[in-house]
Amino acid sequence: MSTVVITGANRGIGLAFVKHYLAQGYQVMALCRQSSPELDATSARITTGVDVSDLEGLQKLAKQWPNNSIDLLINNAGIFHNETLEDFDLPRMQQQLLINSLAPIALTHAAIPALKQGSKVIMITSRMGSISDNGSGAYYGYRMSKAALNAASVSLAKDLQPHGIAVGILHPGFVQTSMVGFNGDISPDQAVAGLSERIAQLKMENSGQFWHSNGQPLPW
Ligand SMILES: NC(=O)c1ccc[n+]([C@@H]2O[C@H](COP(=O)([O-])OP(=O)(O)OC[C@H]3O[C@@H](n4cnc5c(N)ncnc54)[C@H](OP(=O)(O)O)[C@@H]3O)[C@@H](O)[C@H]2O)c1
Repeated sequence: MSTVVITGANRGIGLAFVKHYLAQGYQVMALCRQSSPELDATSARITTGVDVSDLEGLQKLAKQWPNNSIDLLINNAGIFHNETLEDFDLPRMQQQLLINSLAPIALTHAAIPALKQGSKVIMITSRMGSISDNGSGAYYGYRMSKAALNAASVSLAKDLQPHGIAVGILHPGFVQTSMVGFNGDISPDQAVAGLSERIAQLKMENSGQFWHSNGQPLPW
């Protein structure tokens, strides 16, 4: 049985990933700060108390996973704020850099022994981290955090190539979750339908590329 680890698994896109991979017959390890009734209702193995802003705690957790035990690691947890020139909140930007960029890299680094040839690492990023696609400005912390995640993910893809581990850098689309006031174009289930297709298509030859869940390649 294949094993998938998912962060931010209690709601939104993370919860939709949990349900998708359970339906595919995976053993799902659902990490979250606090569970939810929806997550509790699944057969996922739930680990609560996982605050990804606690990098040391995150690394300790990953080091407990047995060697070669994880087929798919989905770094999904994230936060989103808007900073403008009028509301230039540096601590909030720092928090986004911590949660959206450092945490997924720290977790993946600590999880390398638990991965194996053929494993896949997924970074749920955002096209808002694309520098050339920035048509509207603002969102300083979020844009920086996802651009930094993208940059580090390309390094990871190159460094994990000799280990046979592929890295997918995926934008889910504009998704109806609490993050965007449920104003998205697609449901979390629709986003995960596309994301999981991209994950299935991910291989060593296309590792380190930046895709929209609909299959469109995105510019850096
Ligand atoms: N929705 C969109 O349109 C959209 C677009 C582009 C990219 N994304 C990305 O998609 C991913 C999932 O977002 P979503 O739309 O599903 O948002 P969401 O419904 O707000 O869910 C965010 C998830 O991240 C978790 N999280 C936040 N801070 C955390 C922390 N410090 N420690 C552990 N978990 C934490 C949340 O857990 P709690 O319940 O404990 O807060 C929740 O499970 C994010 O990386 C986001 O940047 C979303």
